[in-house]
Amino acid sequence: MAKTPQFICTACNARHTKWSGRCDTCGEWNTIVEEAPLNTGPASKSVGTAGGRTIPLGDLGTQEDPPQRTISGLGELDRVLGGGLVPASATLVGGDPGIGKSTLLLQGAAAFARKGLKTIYVSGEEASAQVRMRARRLGLGDAPVKLATETNLRDILATLEAEKPDLAIIDSIQTMWADNVASSPGSVAQVRAAAHELTTFAKRRGTAVVLVGHVTKDGQIAGPRVVEHMVDTVLYFEGERGHQFRILRAVKNRFGPADEIGVFEMTGAGLSEVLNPSALFLSERGEPSPGSVVFAGIEGTRPVLVEFQALVSPSPHSQPRRTVVGWDGGRLAMILAVLEARCGIPFAGLDVYLNVAGGMKVSEPAADLAVAAALLSAREDAALPKDTVVFGEISLSGALRAVSQTENRLKEAQKLGFCTAITPSGGKAPAARGIKLTRMGDLTAFVGEVFGA
Ligand code: TYD
Ligand code: MG
Repeated sequence: MAKTPQFICTACNARHTKWSGRCDTCGEWNTIVEEAPLNTGPASKSVGTAGGRTIPLGDLGTQEDPPQRTISGLGELDRVLGGGLVPASATLVGGDPGIGKSTLLLQGAAAFARKGLKTIYVSGEEASAQVRMRARRLGLGDAPVKLATETNLRDILATLEAEKPDLAIIDSIQTMWADNVASSPGSVAQVRAAAHELTTFAKRRGTAVVLVGHVTKDGQIAGPRVVEHMVDTVLYFEGERGHQFRILRAVKNRFGPADEIGVFEMTGAGLSEVLNPSALFLSERGEPSPGSVVFAGIEGTRPVLVEFQALVSPSPHSQPRRTVVGWDGGRLAMILAVLEARCGIPFAGLDVYLNVAGGMKVSEPAADLAVAAALLSAREDAALPKDTVVFGEISLSGALRAVSQTENRLKEAQKLGFCTAITPSGGKAPAARGIKLTRMGDLTAFVGEVFGA
Protein backbone atom coordinates (compact mmCIF):
# COMPACT_ATOMS: atom_id res chain seq x y z
CA MET A 1 0.00 0.00 0.00
CA ALA A 2 1.32 3.42 -0.91
CA LYS A 3 2.11 5.58 2.12
CA THR A 4 0.37 8.93 2.47
CA PRO A 5 2.94 11.67 2.05
CA GLN A 6 3.99 13.53 5.16
CA PHE A 7 4.90 17.20 5.25
CA ILE A 8 7.10 18.84 7.81
CA CYS A 9 7.96 22.43 8.67
CA THR A 10 11.73 22.94 8.57
CA ALA A 11 11.46 25.88 10.95
CA CYS A 12 9.45 24.39 13.82
CA ASN A 13 9.37 20.68 12.99
CA ALA A 14 5.54 20.57 12.99
CA ARG A 15 3.92 17.83 10.94
CA HIS A 16 1.19 18.51 8.40
CA THR A 17 -0.90 16.21 6.25
CA LYS A 18 -0.77 18.52 3.24
CA TRP A 19 1.56 21.12 1.80
CA SER A 20 0.83 24.81 2.24
CA GLY A 21 2.77 28.01 1.71
CA ARG A 22 2.70 28.98 5.37
CA CYS A 23 3.13 26.84 8.47
CA ASP A 24 0.11 27.46 10.68
CA THR A 25 2.04 26.31 13.77
CA CYS A 26 4.91 28.82 13.64
CA GLY A 27 3.67 31.20 10.96
CA GLU A 28 6.82 30.97 8.79
CA TRP A 29 6.45 31.10 5.01
CA ASN A 30 7.86 28.55 2.55
CA THR A 31 9.19 26.23 5.21
CA ILE A 32 6.99 23.18 4.58
CA VAL A 33 8.58 20.33 2.64
CA GLU A 34 7.56 16.79 1.83
CA GLU A 35 9.24 14.21 3.96
CA ALA A 36 10.27 10.99 2.28
CA PRO A 37 9.71 7.89 4.42
CA LEU A 38 12.93 6.75 6.08
CA ASN A 39 12.46 3.04 5.46
CA THR A 40 12.95 2.98 1.70
CA GLY A 41 16.18 1.00 1.82
CA PRO A 42 16.85 -2.53 3.02
CA ALA A 43 17.00 -2.91 6.77
CA SER A 44 20.54 -2.84 8.12
CA LYS A 45 21.94 -6.15 9.33
CA SER A 46 22.21 -5.09 12.91
CA VAL A 47 18.47 -4.49 13.25
CA GLY A 48 16.89 -7.01 15.58
CA THR A 49 20.11 -8.80 16.52
CA ALA A 50 20.13 -7.36 20.02
CA GLY A 51 16.71 -8.93 20.57
CA GLY A 52 15.51 -5.96 22.64
CA ARG A 53 17.90 -6.82 25.47
CA THR A 54 17.60 -4.90 28.75
CA ILE A 55 19.86 -4.56 31.76
CA PRO A 56 18.84 -3.76 35.35
CA LEU A 57 19.47 -0.14 36.28
CA GLY A 58 21.50 -1.20 39.32
CA ASP A 59 23.91 -3.17 37.13
CA LEU A 60 25.18 0.03 35.58
CA GLY A 61 27.31 0.59 38.66
CA THR A 62 29.23 -2.61 38.08
CA GLN A 63 30.34 -1.46 34.66
CA GLU A 64 33.42 0.66 34.10
CA ASP A 65 33.50 4.18 35.47
CA PRO A 66 32.02 6.72 33.09
CA PRO A 67 34.72 8.01 30.77
CA GLN A 68 36.19 11.37 31.58
CA ARG A 69 35.64 14.63 29.74
CA THR A 70 38.47 16.02 27.68
CA ILE A 71 39.49 19.65 27.97
CA SER A 72 40.61 21.23 24.69
CA GLY A 73 42.42 24.14 26.29
CA LEU A 74 40.22 26.53 24.31
CA GLY A 75 38.57 27.77 27.49
CA GLU A 76 35.57 29.40 25.85
CA LEU A 77 34.73 26.21 23.94
CA ASP A 78 35.22 23.95 26.98
CA ARG A 79 32.99 26.21 29.06
CA VAL A 80 30.10 26.06 26.58
CA LEU A 81 30.41 22.27 26.35
CA GLY A 82 29.82 22.20 30.11
CA GLY A 83 33.46 21.67 31.08
CA GLY A 84 35.00 19.76 28.19
CA LEU A 85 33.99 17.17 25.61
CA VAL A 86 31.97 14.15 26.78
CA PRO A 87 32.76 10.83 25.07
CA ALA A 88 29.91 9.24 23.07
CA SER A 89 28.07 12.55 22.98
CA ALA A 90 26.34 14.09 19.97
CA THR A 91 26.62 17.85 19.56
CA LEU A 92 25.03 20.12 17.00
CA VAL A 93 26.70 23.42 16.13
CA GLY A 94 24.30 25.65 14.21
CA GLY A 95 24.79 29.10 12.74
CA ASP A 96 24.42 31.31 9.70
CA PRO A 97 26.53 30.43 6.68
CA GLY A 98 29.86 32.27 6.84
CA ILE A 99 29.68 33.01 10.57
CA GLY A 100 32.76 30.89 11.30
CA LYS A 101 31.55 27.37 12.19
CA SER A 102 34.16 25.59 10.10
CA THR A 103 36.88 27.82 11.52
CA LEU A 104 35.75 27.16 15.10
CA LEU A 105 35.52 23.41 14.60
CA LEU A 106 38.84 23.14 12.82
CA GLN A 107 40.47 24.99 15.71
CA GLY A 108 38.52 22.82 18.17
CA ALA A 109 39.51 19.63 16.31
CA ALA A 110 43.18 20.62 16.42
CA ALA A 111 42.98 21.50 20.11
CA PHE A 112 41.35 18.19 21.08
CA ALA A 113 43.73 16.24 18.83
CA ARG A 114 46.70 17.86 20.57
CA LYS A 115 45.23 16.70 23.88
CA GLY A 116 45.41 13.14 22.61
CA LEU A 117 41.96 12.52 21.13
CA LYS A 118 41.98 10.65 17.85
CA THR A 119 40.16 13.17 15.68
CA ILE A 120 38.60 13.03 12.21
CA TYR A 121 37.30 16.10 10.42
CA VAL A 122 34.87 15.19 7.63
CA SER A 123 34.21 18.03 5.23
CA GLY A 124 31.40 17.76 2.72
CA GLU A 125 31.73 21.37 1.67
CA GLU A 126 35.39 21.98 1.00
CA ALA A 127 38.13 20.04 -0.78
CA SER A 128 40.98 18.65 1.34
CA ALA A 129 43.35 21.20 -0.15
CA GLN A 130 41.08 24.03 0.97
CA VAL A 131 40.76 22.67 4.51
CA ARG A 132 44.50 22.10 4.66
CA MET A 133 45.16 25.64 3.46
CA ARG A 134 42.84 27.04 6.09
CA ALA A 135 44.50 24.91 8.77
CA ARG A 136 47.89 26.24 7.73
CA ARG A 137 46.60 29.81 7.82
CA LEU A 138 45.33 29.17 11.36
CA GLY A 139 48.73 27.85 12.38
CA LEU A 140 47.34 24.31 12.75
CA GLY A 141 49.17 22.72 9.84
CA ASP A 142 50.90 20.20 12.12
CA ALA A 143 47.88 19.22 14.25
CA PRO A 144 47.31 15.44 14.29
CA VAL A 145 43.82 15.67 12.75
CA LYS A 146 42.74 13.25 10.02
CA LEU A 147 40.84 14.77 7.16
CA ALA A 148 38.13 13.21 4.97
CA THR A 149 36.18 14.87 2.20
CA GLU A 150 33.11 12.76 1.75
CA THR A 151 29.36 13.21 1.51
CA ASN A 152 28.08 9.65 1.21
CA LEU A 153 26.87 8.59 4.64
CA ARG A 154 27.65 4.91 4.06
CA ASP A 155 31.27 5.74 3.19
CA ILE A 156 31.59 8.07 6.16
CA LEU A 157 30.27 5.43 8.54
CA ALA A 158 32.64 2.85 7.02
CA THR A 159 35.55 5.27 7.58
CA LEU A 160 34.48 5.95 11.14
CA GLU A 161 34.01 2.22 11.87
CA ALA A 162 37.49 1.51 10.55
CA GLU A 163 39.24 4.42 12.27
CA LYS A 164 37.28 4.37 15.56
CA PRO A 165 38.05 8.03 16.36
CA ASP A 166 37.40 9.66 19.75
CA LEU A 167 36.02 12.74 18.02
CA ALA A 168 34.39 13.04 14.60
CA ILE A 169 33.33 16.39 13.14
CA ILE A 170 30.82 16.35 10.30
CA ASP A 171 30.82 19.64 8.35
CA SER A 172 28.00 19.96 7.44
CA ILE A 173 24.99 17.74 8.10
CA GLN A 174 23.21 19.37 5.14
CA THR A 175 25.76 18.01 2.66
CA MET A 176 25.44 14.40 3.88
CA TRP A 177 23.65 11.99 1.65
CA ALA A 178 22.21 8.59 2.55
CA ASP A 179 21.76 6.49 -0.59
CA ASN A 180 18.80 4.57 0.83
CA VAL A 181 16.73 7.73 1.22
CA ALA A 182 15.05 8.94 -1.94
CA SER A 183 15.41 12.67 -1.65
CA SER A 184 18.09 15.24 -2.33
CA PRO A 185 20.88 16.19 0.12
CA GLY A 186 19.74 18.90 2.51
CA SER A 187 16.11 17.72 2.58
CA VAL A 188 14.47 16.97 5.89
CA ALA A 189 14.53 13.22 5.28
CA GLN A 190 18.25 13.23 4.38
CA VAL A 191 19.28 15.45 7.28
CA ARG A 192 17.32 13.32 9.71
CA ALA A 193 18.62 10.04 8.35
CA ALA A 194 22.22 11.30 8.51
CA ALA A 195 21.80 12.74 12.01
CA HIS A 196 20.16 9.52 13.21
CA GLU A 197 22.90 7.27 11.82
CA LEU A 198 25.70 9.48 13.15
CA THR A 199 24.25 9.93 16.64
CA THR A 200 23.60 6.18 16.83
CA PHE A 201 27.22 5.62 15.84
CA ALA A 202 28.32 8.00 18.61
CA LYS A 203 26.47 6.00 21.26
CA ARG A 204 27.51 2.62 19.91
CA ARG A 205 31.22 3.31 19.47
CA GLY A 206 31.83 5.90 22.17
CA THR A 207 32.88 8.52 19.63
CA ALA A 208 31.99 12.15 20.34
CA VAL A 209 30.25 13.34 17.17
CA VAL A 210 29.87 17.02 16.30
CA LEU A 211 27.43 17.93 13.53
CA VAL A 212 27.62 21.31 11.85
CA GLY A 213 24.30 22.71 10.60
CA HIS A 214 23.58 25.84 8.62
CA VAL A 215 20.66 27.91 9.81
CA THR A 216 18.59 28.91 6.84
CA LYS A 217 15.11 30.14 6.19
CA ASP A 218 15.07 28.58 2.74
CA GLY A 219 12.42 25.86 2.81
CA GLN A 220 14.45 23.62 0.46
CA ILE A 221 17.19 23.01 2.97
CA ALA A 222 16.41 21.54 6.37
CA GLY A 223 17.70 23.70 9.17
CA PRO A 224 19.37 22.40 12.34
CA ARG A 225 16.02 22.51 14.15
CA VAL A 226 15.07 19.11 12.75
CA VAL A 227 18.00 17.45 14.52
CA GLU A 228 17.94 19.40 17.79
CA HIS A 229 15.99 16.71 19.61
CA MET A 230 18.31 13.91 18.46
CA VAL A 231 21.49 15.31 19.98
CA ASP A 232 22.70 15.81 23.55
CA THR A 233 23.98 19.33 23.11
CA VAL A 234 22.90 22.15 20.84
CA LEU A 235 25.23 25.10 20.40
CA TYR A 236 24.54 28.13 18.25
CA PHE A 237 27.29 30.30 16.85
CA GLU A 238 26.01 33.85 16.61
CA GLY A 239 27.36 37.19 15.61
CA GLU A 240 26.39 40.35 13.84
CA ARG A 241 27.80 41.09 10.43
CA GLY A 242 30.09 44.05 10.82
CA HIS A 243 31.12 43.01 14.32
CA GLN A 244 34.26 41.00 14.85
CA PHE A 245 33.11 39.03 17.82
CA ARG A 246 31.15 35.79 17.85
CA ILE A 247 29.17 34.15 20.62
CA LEU A 248 28.90 30.39 21.02
CA ARG A 249 25.75 29.75 23.03
CA ALA A 250 24.54 26.47 24.55
CA VAL A 251 20.77 26.31 24.06
CA LYS A 252 20.50 22.69 25.18
CA ASN A 253 23.05 20.69 27.09
CA ARG A 254 22.57 17.31 28.74
CA PHE A 255 26.04 17.62 30.28
CA GLY A 256 26.14 21.19 31.54
CA PRO A 257 24.25 24.42 32.07
CA ALA A 258 22.25 25.76 29.13
CA ASP A 259 22.58 29.46 28.30
CA GLU A 260 26.32 29.32 28.83
CA ILE A 261 28.20 31.49 26.36
CA GLY A 262 31.70 31.53 24.97
CA VAL A 263 32.96 34.72 23.36
CA PHE A 264 35.40 34.80 20.46
CA GLU A 265 36.80 37.41 18.16
CA MET A 266 37.28 36.69 14.43
CA THR A 267 40.75 37.80 13.47
CA GLY A 268 42.93 37.37 10.40
CA ALA A 269 44.36 34.27 12.08
CA GLY A 270 41.08 32.63 13.05
CA LEU A 271 39.02 32.86 16.21
CA SER A 272 40.69 34.10 19.35
CA GLU A 273 39.14 33.78 22.79
CA VAL A 274 37.78 36.84 24.53
CA LEU A 275 38.62 36.35 28.16
CA ASN A 276 36.85 39.45 29.44
CA PRO A 277 33.61 39.89 27.44
CA SER A 278 32.35 42.79 29.58
CA ALA A 279 35.39 44.88 28.70
CA LEU A 280 34.81 44.08 25.03
CA PHE A 281 31.09 44.93 25.06
CA LEU A 282 31.72 48.20 26.84
CA SER A 283 34.87 49.13 24.95
CA GLU A 284 33.17 51.63 22.65
CA ARG A 285 31.31 53.42 25.41
CA GLY A 286 32.18 57.09 25.65
CA GLU A 287 31.04 59.69 28.19
CA PRO A 288 27.60 59.03 29.73
CA SER A 289 24.89 59.99 27.27
CA PRO A 290 21.08 60.04 27.43
CA GLY A 291 19.53 56.66 26.63
CA SER A 292 22.63 54.66 27.50
CA VAL A 293 22.55 52.33 30.53
CA VAL A 294 24.93 49.56 31.57
CA PHE A 295 23.23 46.32 32.62
CA ALA A 296 25.01 43.82 34.85
CA GLY A 297 23.79 40.52 33.40
CA ILE A 298 24.50 36.82 33.86
CA GLU A 299 25.06 34.56 30.87
CA GLY A 300 25.12 30.94 31.97
CA THR A 301 27.46 30.90 34.92
CA ARG A 302 29.30 34.11 34.24
CA PRO A 303 28.53 37.80 34.74
CA VAL A 304 28.63 39.95 31.61
CA LEU A 305 28.11 43.70 31.45
CA VAL A 306 26.37 45.09 28.38
CA GLU A 307 25.12 48.50 27.35
CA PHE A 308 21.45 49.12 26.51
CA GLN A 309 20.83 52.09 24.22
CA ALA A 310 17.44 53.70 23.74
CA LEU A 311 16.25 56.45 21.45
CA VAL A 312 12.85 58.08 21.83
CA SER A 313 11.60 60.60 19.28
CA PRO A 314 8.27 62.15 18.27
CA SER A 315 6.59 59.85 15.75
CA PRO A 316 5.28 61.02 12.38
CA HIS A 317 3.27 57.78 12.16
CA SER A 318 -0.20 57.08 13.46
CA GLN A 319 1.24 53.80 14.84
CA PRO A 320 4.53 54.75 16.54
CA ARG A 321 7.46 52.43 15.88
CA ARG A 322 8.83 49.99 18.43
CA THR A 323 12.15 48.61 17.18
CA VAL A 324 14.26 46.25 19.29
CA VAL A 325 17.62 44.65 18.54
CA GLY A 326 19.07 42.15 21.02
CA TRP A 327 16.10 42.00 23.39
CA ASP A 328 12.51 40.77 23.39
CA GLY A 329 9.94 43.03 21.70
CA GLY A 330 7.08 41.71 23.85
CA ARG A 331 9.00 42.49 27.03
CA LEU A 332 9.66 46.05 25.78
CA ALA A 333 5.91 46.55 25.22
CA MET A 334 5.31 45.36 28.78
CA ILE A 335 7.78 47.81 30.27
CA LEU A 336 6.31 50.69 28.27
CA ALA A 337 2.87 49.72 29.57
CA VAL A 338 4.10 49.56 33.19
CA LEU A 339 5.80 52.97 32.87
CA GLU A 340 2.56 54.44 31.58
CA ALA A 341 0.13 52.72 33.94
CA ARG A 342 2.16 52.80 37.19
CA CYS A 343 4.32 55.91 36.80
CA GLY A 344 2.12 58.01 34.51
CA ILE A 345 4.86 58.35 31.89
CA PRO A 346 3.28 57.87 28.44
CA PHE A 347 5.14 56.85 25.30
CA ALA A 348 2.15 57.31 22.98
CA GLY A 349 3.09 59.33 19.91
CA LEU A 350 6.77 58.51 20.41
CA ASP A 351 8.91 56.16 18.33
CA VAL A 352 11.01 53.90 20.55
CA TYR A 353 14.24 52.21 19.48
CA LEU A 354 16.09 49.85 21.81
CA ASN A 355 19.44 48.27 21.06
CA VAL A 356 21.94 46.12 22.93
CA ALA A 357 25.35 47.48 21.95
CA GLY A 358 27.80 45.23 20.17
CA GLY A 359 25.23 42.78 18.80
CA MET A 360 24.80 40.85 22.06
CA LYS A 361 21.43 39.18 22.71
CA VAL A 362 19.99 39.45 26.22
CA SER A 363 17.08 37.32 27.40
CA GLU A 364 17.13 37.78 31.18
CA PRO A 365 14.13 39.51 32.83
CA ALA A 366 16.77 41.00 35.15
CA ALA A 367 17.39 43.52 32.36
CA ASP A 368 13.91 45.06 32.83
CA LEU A 369 15.13 47.86 35.07
CA ALA A 370 18.05 48.68 32.77
CA VAL A 371 15.61 48.89 29.84
CA ALA A 372 13.24 51.14 31.80
CA ALA A 373 16.18 53.32 32.82
CA ALA A 374 17.39 53.59 29.20
CA LEU A 375 13.87 54.50 28.00
CA LEU A 376 13.40 57.14 30.71
CA SER A 377 16.88 58.54 30.21
CA ALA A 378 16.23 58.88 26.46
CA ARG A 379 12.78 60.38 26.98
CA GLU A 380 13.97 62.90 29.58
CA ASP A 381 17.19 63.55 27.65
CA ALA A 382 19.10 63.06 30.91
CA ALA A 383 22.10 60.76 31.25
CA LEU A 384 22.33 58.42 34.23
CA PRO A 385 25.09 59.25 36.73
CA LYS A 386 28.52 58.14 35.52
CA ASP A 387 29.80 54.65 36.32
CA THR A 388 26.42 53.23 37.32
CA VAL A 389 25.12 49.74 36.57
CA VAL A 390 21.45 48.78 36.77
CA PHE A 391 19.61 45.47 37.14
CA GLY A 392 16.30 44.14 38.45
CA GLU A 393 13.10 42.57 37.25
CA ILE A 394 9.94 44.69 36.97
CA SER A 395 6.55 43.15 37.77
CA LEU A 396 3.29 44.32 36.21
CA SER A 397 2.46 46.15 39.45
CA GLY A 398 5.61 48.23 39.02
CA ALA A 399 7.36 46.52 41.94
CA LEU A 400 11.06 45.68 41.52
CA ARG A 401 11.98 42.06 42.11
CA ALA A 402 15.33 40.83 43.28
CA VAL A 403 17.24 38.69 40.78
CA SER A 404 19.65 35.80 41.11
CA GLN A 405 23.43 36.10 41.53
CA THR A 406 23.35 39.70 42.73
CA GLU A 407 26.78 39.42 44.28
CA ASN A 408 28.38 38.08 41.10
CA ARG A 409 26.89 40.95 39.12
CA LEU A 410 28.18 43.50 41.61
CA LYS A 411 31.64 41.96 41.71
CA GLU A 412 31.96 42.13 37.92
CA ALA A 413 30.74 45.75 37.86
CA GLN A 414 33.21 46.70 40.54
CA LYS A 415 36.01 44.93 38.68
CA LEU A 416 35.27 47.05 35.60
CA GLY A 417 35.42 50.30 37.52
CA PHE A 418 31.73 50.96 38.22
CA CYS A 419 31.09 52.58 41.58
CA THR A 420 27.27 52.65 41.90
CA ALA A 421 24.62 49.98 41.34
CA ILE A 422 20.88 50.52 41.21
CA THR A 423 19.15 47.31 42.33
CA PRO A 424 15.83 46.09 43.77
CA SER A 425 15.52 46.31 47.54
CA GLY A 426 13.91 42.87 47.97
CA GLY A 427 15.82 39.91 49.33
CA LYS A 428 18.86 39.84 51.55
CA ALA A 429 21.19 42.84 51.28
CA PRO A 430 24.15 41.65 49.23
CA ALA A 431 27.68 41.94 50.49
CA ALA A 432 29.21 44.56 48.23
CA ARG A 433 32.65 45.98 48.66
CA GLY A 434 33.84 49.01 46.71
CA ILE A 435 30.46 49.66 45.11
CA LYS A 436 27.66 51.86 46.41
CA LEU A 437 24.20 50.30 46.34
CA THR A 438 21.03 52.27 45.65
CA ARG A 439 18.24 49.81 46.49
CA MET A 440 14.64 50.54 45.51
CA GLY A 441 11.28 48.82 45.98
CA ASP A 442 9.37 49.99 42.96
CA LEU A 443 9.58 51.77 39.65
CA THR A 444 7.96 54.98 40.93
CA ALA A 445 10.68 55.34 43.57
CA PHE A 446 13.29 54.71 40.88
CA VAL A 447 11.83 57.42 38.59
CA GLY A 448 11.71 59.89 41.48
CA GLU A 449 15.21 59.18 42.69
CA VAL A 450 17.02 59.01 39.37
CA PHE A 451 15.10 61.46 37.21
CA GLY A 452 13.55 63.63 39.90
CA ALA A 453 10.10 63.12 38.37
P1 TYD B 1 33.72 29.76 7.99
O1 TYD B 1 34.36 29.10 9.15
O2 TYD B 1 34.03 29.22 6.64
O3 TYD B 1 32.15 29.89 8.16
P2 TYD B 1 31.00 28.77 8.14
O4 TYD B 1 31.66 27.43 8.23
O5 TYD B 1 30.13 29.09 9.33
O6 TYD B 1 30.25 28.95 6.86
O7 TYD B 1 34.18 31.29 8.10
C1 TYD B 1 33.99 32.12 7.06
C2 TYD B 1 34.34 33.55 7.39
O8 TYD B 1 35.33 33.73 8.36
C3 TYD B 1 34.86 34.18 6.12
O9 TYD B 1 34.04 35.29 5.83
C4 TYD B 1 36.25 34.58 6.42
C5 TYD B 1 36.32 34.62 7.91
N1 TYD B 1 37.63 34.23 8.41
C6 TYD B 1 38.46 35.18 8.98
O10 TYD B 1 38.12 36.35 9.09
N2 TYD B 1 39.68 34.78 9.49
C7 TYD B 1 40.11 33.51 9.39
O11 TYD B 1 41.22 33.20 9.86
C8 TYD B 1 39.26 32.54 8.78
C9 TYD B 1 39.69 31.11 8.65
C10 TYD B 1 38.03 32.94 8.31
MG1 MG C 1 31.72 25.96 6.76
